[in-house]
Amino acid sequence: MSENRAERLCAFMKGNSFVWLVLILSLAVISACSNSENTNSVQIASAQADEVAASLYKKHCLSCHAADLSGLVGPSLKQVGTKLTEEQIIAVMNEGAKGMPSFTKMLSKEEMEAVAGWLSKNE
Ligand code: HEC
Repeated sequence: MSENRAERLCAFMKGNSFVWLVLILSLAVISACSNSENTNSVQIASAQADEVAASLYKKHCLSCHAADLSGLVGPSLKQVGTKLTEEQIIAVMNEGAKGMPSFTKMLSKEEMEAVAGWLSKNE
């Protein structure tokens, strides 16, 4: 009688630990998947931000800084990332400069951040 009970308990434990193992494994798989989804969506988000930034640049900055960033009326922005931080580039857009208008009223904060981030990748 008691042996029987011990056997049953043993079988129950074994069965249970298997369930736990499956649970833990599937949790690990699920979290691994959702992690990779997260990095993918971040990459997509930054790719979209770059596209937005490039078209904003074309619309607002190209006339003075040239399509290839090499500069016309304004200086070349090709290596601006080595010279200015993103915050400093945003400050230039907000304050303007000698011969450059302020973009505070033309661009939102988010748009400026996108353009500054995109420009500062050019190092
Ligand atoms: C009307 C022409 C004009 C437009 C449009 C213009 N800029 Fe400029 N930008 C200039 C000039 C001129 C300077 C140099 C100012 C100086 O010498 O103080 C300059 C300087 C800068 C600088 C500082 C560069 C450095 O090396 O110090 C940055 C960054 C910049 N512009 C970014 C932009 C961005 C981003 C846009 C679009 C949102 C833009 N500019 C639009 C004319 C322009």
